[in-house]
Amino acid sequence: MIIDINNSNLSSYIDKVREINHNSVKYICVITFGCQQNEADSEVIRGIGKEMGYLVTDDPAVSDLIIINTCAIREHAEKKALSVLGNMKKYKTSNPDLIVGIMGCMAEEEHVVSKIKKSFPYVSFTLEPSAIYRLPETLYGVMQSRKREFIYNTENIDIYEGVLPVRKSDFKAWVSIMYGCNNFCTYCIVPYVRGRERSRSSADVIADVERLVRDGYKEITLLGQNVNSYKSDTDFAGLLEKIALVKGDFIVRFMTSHPKDVSDRLIDVMGKYVPKIAPQFHLPLQSGSDRILKAMNRTYTAEKYLATVEKLRSAVPDIAISSDIIVGFPGESEEDFSDTMKMLKTVEFDMAYTFIYSPRKGTKAAQMDCQIPDDIKGRRLRELLELQNNISKEKNIPLINTVQKVLVDGFEEKDGKIICKARTLSNKLVHFEGEKNFVGKFELVKITDVRPHNMIGEKFERN
Ligand code: 5AD
Ligand code: SF4
Repeated sequence: MIIDINNSNLSSYIDKVREINHNSVKYICVITFGCQQNEADSEVIRGIGKEMGYLVTDDPAVSDLIIINTCAIREHAEKKALSVLGNMKKYKTSNPDLIVGIMGCMAEEEHVVSKIKKSFPYVSFTLEPSAIYRLPETLYGVMQSRKREFIYNTENIDIYEGVLPVRKSDFKAWVSIMYGCNNFCTYCIVPYVRGRERSRSSADVIADVERLVRDGYKEITLLGQNVNSYKSDTDFAGLLEKIALVKGDFIVRFMTSHPKDVSDRLIDVMGKYVPKIAPQFHLPLQSGSDRILKAMNRTYTAEKYLATVEKLRSAVPDIAISSDIIVGFPGESEEDFSDTMKMLKTVEFDMAYTFIYSPRKGTKAAQMDCQIPDDIKGRRLRELLELQNNISKEKNIPLINTVQKVLVDGFEEKDGKIICKARTLSNKLVHFEGEKNFVGKFELVKITDVRPHNMIGEKFERN
């Protein structure tokens, strides 16, 4: 169900917390781990915080409410979050009224919640990711009763509308279009912690996009665990077309896509509206071996994947395709791994995020036999990275001497010069000498050199 937070009982808790806060200046600090979805959720959490009367800060030392928005995708991410959580103890010692809360994907894992109950007594609450709108209610409960609250496993499938996120950037914005995942890839914790798929209405998404464009945003990234299975009054291709028709000087990106759901209609829409729909596609392959893809429950073959890539490249000739690859999935033989290496060479991704398989409690793959030893996983990752770095660099060479439209993200001062960091429409990183006020603007840049992870350019002046 789609609920307007302003007309729900949740808004009364916002009022109650604001009432408690209203005589003093209070700060909220949200510390984020993980993916763009978490970044976007943190912006919503800050928005809710602001409505409850908090000022937003990045400094935990001055904060009255610290929220750690956690990630559970790999063990490493969990360890990092727990170590940062350990650091929060000193703030609680110096300010006993401080409230520390755990949100994000780890807050939905039972074993994490029990660990927090036992070993982190200074954490006042945990709140699962599908219930972020229960923050005011949870916080009010903690403030009133001084008891700890642990909210997980509630199967929340409602979508709440009506909170204005506090965004980090004033020219790039995330817009969530759907939440959750139904795919149950056997290695992945996401469906367990983020629940089933549910989509926002296209009218709500379009209203967000129109507001952002009016406010001068230049890049809008549509987010979802699996954007291609967006389903409300229209499908993802329909939604993307509606967004492409919104007037204004902006580009739209989206992530992440599942290869099984890339429809011909979506490819047609991209071809029709490029470059307003940026010529970029993030299409996680995960493995090049059909046997491993099957064990991963990915429901496509390497051949089917290649056919999708071909279609994308013929509809959008300058498209950059990026991917996620996992090495060391249980039972991955040398032959399976070499199939992945072969696929990298065949597809020639512009960029790939590479991961070592990390067993996640509660997933099917964690119980599979033949877990791969760490040294083999490490060696495979190194080989994969080396290959992909070379491919990424090779792919960029033809861009030398071309003029690219870029959106400037930020800058760095080096030897008295301003080095702008920008992204091409195909999302490739370019460094070029420019001015501080280029940030947040589209500029034209001529590419002069390429490296594996970025390109070098110079500002292009039209004669
Ligand atoms: N181990 C390693 N990588 C994983 N991913 C998801 N789950 C795991 C895991 N258990 C990777 C996938 C996914 C990306 C977001 O993270 O490649 O596409
Ligand atoms: Fe995880 Fe697969 Fe869903 Fe992506 S599609 S979030 S990898 S289960």
